[in-house]
Amino acid sequence: MEQKIHVALGERSYDVRIAPGLIDQIGSSVAELTGAKQVVVITDSNVAPLYAARVTESLAAAGVVSRVLEFPAGEPSKNFATVSDLLDELLGSGEPIDRGTVIVPLGGGVAGDMGGFVAGVALRGLRFLQCPTSLLAVVDSSVGGKTGVDHAAGKNLIGVFHQPVGVLSDIESLRTLSIEELRNGLGECVKHAVIRDATLLDFIETNAETLQRVDGEKLAFDSDVMCELLAKNVAIKAQVVRTDERESGVRAHLNYGHTIGHAIETFVGYANIRHGEAVSLGMVTANHIAVARELFAPAVADRIANLLQSLNLPTTCGSLDAVKIWDIMKHDKKARGGQVRMVLPTGLGEVDIYDDITEQEVGEAVESIDG
Ligand code: GLY
Repeated sequence: MEQKIHVALGERSYDVRIAPGLIDQIGSSVAELTGAKQVVVITDSNVAPLYAARVTESLAAAGVVSRVLEFPAGEPSKNFATVSDLLDELLGSGEPIDRGTVIVPLGGGVAGDMGGFVAGVALRGLRFLQCPTSLLAVVDSSVGGKTGVDHAAGKNLIGVFHQPVGVLSDIESLRTLSIEELRNGLGECVKHAVIRDATLLDFIETNAETLQRVDGEKLAFDSDVMCELLAKNVAIKAQVVRTDERESGVRAHLNYGHTIGHAIETFVGYANIRHGEAVSLGMVTANHIAVARELFAPAVADRIANLLQSLNLPTTCGSLDAVKIWDIMKHDKKARGGQVRMVLPTGLGEVDIYDDITEQEVGEAVESIDG
């Protein structure tokens, strides 16, 4: 069942491993990949009680000394103040670290982004092994070396590109996610299908029900199906990152659904909408603009909307203010000189970047999802 995807980046290349039980192999992986004798695990207050002890046991069994730094779970922690606290603990207490120390970010996107950032700046750069425990983090943020934190002026405005030495995605850790969190990640999988791989769309359609199976408190997805889904998505992400590591070109395709999506997140407040929900609305509105420009067949846009609905992701949203959404888009860090850029589908599995998006197009698209 184990899947391994190679992220080919020359001397910064690494493998993403996807399988059940990998949390218990963190120790042997650190030893094999780095030879390190000291690890600092960075995790949040939700994930620590679930997995931190298993991680430290695995490290101890491999002869690696470790300690765990924990921060309060949630996006509001993803800021410079938390990084500063983590650095104080990393540098100012416990066993002194050195340039051979390895960081293990353990958790969802926030732990991965912040742990990777701490690794990127401490002692001018430490090696790190990503251990994502949310679907969103496995298929997106753990691969590609984007690390960083939010700023009052916007999301992810402070950070560095810093590639991990490897990624261990233990699919069993996804079973403790809420079904909403799982769906959050499935939205990102639909995004990958639309930008690169029509067969992935078929796969998600076929397995939508299996993937969302719940048994009591735990998710009961089929392990083989989940491993295959993750591998297909990571392969797409790896291929995009290999072609354009620092987002000077095609890596921006990964922003499909994110331009209007981010603006909706800002407009309704991050606490009121999940990232995957906002991206779902962002994809539907981008498709609306593409259809209006006659770049994209209406039937395919409908197919994507139907799939999002079958994943219980929203395709309509009440009380959005199109003028404010446009204003937020114009101030987004990805706007160039105030000109809004959007990634639009030009066929199933193909997208392009457009710099000439107008306020009227965005207004019509936002109105089309009013519901
Ligand atoms: N999540 C978008 C990227 O990694 O470029």
